[in-house]
Amino acid sequence: MRYFILATLLYCAACAPTELDPNQTSSADTSEVYRPLYHFSPEAHWMNDPNGMFYKDGTYHLYFQYYPEGNQWGPMHWGHASTKDLMHWTEHPIAIYPDTALGYIFSGSAVIDTFNVSGLAVDSTPPIIAMYTFHKRPGDVQTQGISYSLDGGMTYEFYEGNPVLPNPELKDFRDPKMMWDGTQWICALTVGQEIAFYGSENLLDWKPLSQFLGEHGNHGGVWECPELFSLTTEEGVRKDILLVSIGSGAPNGGSGTQYFVGHWDGTEFIAEHEDERYMDWGRDNYAGVNWWNAPTDRGKKLFMGWMSNWEYAQVVPTYKWRSSMTLPRELSLVELDGQFHIKQQFRLDGGNGYQANLEPKMGLRGANTFGINFSAEPQWSLRLTSAEGDTLDIWTSVDSIYIDRSKCGLVDFEPSFKNIMSGPRKTTAAEYEMYIDIMSLELLADDGLTAMTATFFPKKPFNKLEFEGLKEGTLTSLRE
Ligand code: FRU
Repeated sequence: MRYFILATLLYCAACAPTELDPNQTSSADTSEVYRPLYHFSPEAHWMNDPNGMFYKDGTYHLYFQYYPEGNQWGPMHWGHASTKDLMHWTEHPIAIYPDTALGYIFSGSAVIDTFNVSGLAVDSTPPIIAMYTFHKRPGDVQTQGISYSLDGGMTYEFYEGNPVLPNPELKDFRDPKMMWDGTQWICALTVGQEIAFYGSENLLDWKPLSQFLGEHGNHGGVWECPELFSLTTEEGVRKDILLVSIGSGAPNGGSGTQYFVGHWDGTEFIAEHEDERYMDWGRDNYAGVNWWNAPTDRGKKLFMGWMSNWEYAQVVPTYKWRSSMTLPRELSLVELDGQFHIKQQFRLDGGNGYQANLEPKMGLRGANTFGINFSAEPQWSLRLTSAEGDTLDIWTSVDSIYIDRSKCGLVDFEPSFKNIMSGPRKTTAAEYEMYIDIMSLELLADDGLTAMTATFFPKKPFNKLEFEGLKEGTLTSLRE
């Protein structure tokens, strides 16, 4: 077994990073050095939030905030990609273009209108309904619009009744996420630092239902990209969950995603706890939402976020493209000391590589694409080192988990990139899942109750792994 892992983790000369100029802003640099292998990244140019994800006929669709003419944020389109195994992605032509009258196409969601309540079907194929925010400049006026697809999500047509929700003279009014609550269609969208809920029977005409003020939430920045959905524990307890991303002021700096556990009564969402909860305590998981209709076990959902942070996303040292998505994660609900929390597990349906026992000291021979599953002592530490001396450190104390990327290659493009990030432990249940993919680390700690995601840009690929406090584990190579 050991032989296979060493044989497959051979140093890849084509992947050796060269020195890059972090201030370069043109996409003329075609370097692929930091291209992740099994996370989605666009072939070229700027990407942010995942949008409109839905599953149909064996294919997971992803749309994304996309600027096809530069590697920094610009007039937004919906780019499009799909996958059958959540690991290998195919990028498709842009799905939705800005509208000259109504504006750029900001974040939103998509659902399959199985019973044609919208009346937009032309034959028996259910239309895909996408709802998003138009952002009109000058003036930054935001309204909500709809496009629909009659060819399974490849191309979209503008709904002639746009905008379906005009602007009620509010500045930040965006990111509609639709769901079915059992009796009506619901749409959650952000209004400044509140969530507004609307209801509809036909996905086209929306009436206001209520506002959620989130008095116990984090209000350190503008609220964005909400989602209301439900999860059910293995014991059958069902809770409603509200995801709310915050543009700045997350615990480790910049943007992050909080969640509230509570109850949706058909009109209002009522949170049932006062503590702040986060989907991820690392700095690089933002604006994540769930797929519509993804196959999961009962009471679970499939989630994916944007693997970056608004504090530095536009200056990270990749130039041909900027940003990738996180790995897809299955969400479930667990009870801990009478409180309900989200538990995450990675979902990579195509993820079977060569496996080896995880050793306390291992040579990696330069391949930064692997997953490890392990159990460890309550306090443990892990260091990855490259031949150039780049180090990435992850460790735990009794009550926290830490990641230090400050000595891992290119770090000076934004001052706070070097800050050590930390997240609280809810238990010291010592089962872990971790994935490394060229420039990212995703850790699901303590049985998936605390997630930590961090990007980094080492000068050379890691060639050594050192682990203190390991009990036992498996390393899976994901290089093709
Ligand atoms: C979140 C966000 C959304 C907005 C989009 C614009 O990252 O700011 O609120 O719709 O990005 O690209």
